[in-house]
Amino acid sequence: MKKGETVIWGVAGLISLVAVGMGFVAYNAPPELMPTYQVDSKEAARGELAYRKNGCPSCHKIWNLGSSRGGPLDGVGSRRDQDWLYRYLSSSNPQVMLPSTQKMIYRMPSFAQVAEQDRADMAAFLASLKDRAIEDARAGQASASQEGTP
Ligand code: HEC
Repeated sequence: MKKGETVIWGVAGLISLVAVGMGFVAYNAPPELMPTYQVDSKEAARGELAYRKNGCPSCHKIWNLGSSRGGPLDGVGSRRDQDWLYRYLSSSNPQVMLPSTQKMIYRMPSFAQVAEQDRADMAAFLASLKDRAIEDARAGQASASQEGTP
């Protein structure tokens, strides 16, 4: 092996080591450090399967998995409540509830034809995806008002 090649392989090796190391740290990070998290429930677990079955990842990302056409859904459960999510998935024209900035073919399709149980489970799944900053701020407000501070 030429000297130049040795250097290149050395650098490549180092980069892979750092990447694996960072992956290890991220994977083992305590949940309270993650900006988004999931509250587990039976409905949410069923809803996750329904979410995949109905092809949602072809437009949405959760935890970086899926396509980015429709925007990430991490933390959506802190921005929308379960009832809104259920009505949105059941709407025959979702753009009435949430106007689109996208071209027609990229817009959120109607899932009104999907089985009622699947829509309810998917709403539970989406509602279980929380944004830590929003939840912490709400918890802070709740405890502040309990203490009677303005
Ligand atoms: C063809 C691409 C596409 C598919 C498939 C799709 N979506 Fe969407 N979705 C979008 C787009 C784009 C938006 C943003 C609103 C719009 O442009 O209509 C959106 C918006 C949303 C929102 C609102 C997000 C917010 O921040 O309020 C939710 C929730 C959602 N989608 C859930 C789902 C679920 C669940 C499925 C599967 C049943 C799904 N989407 C399938 C494209 C898609």
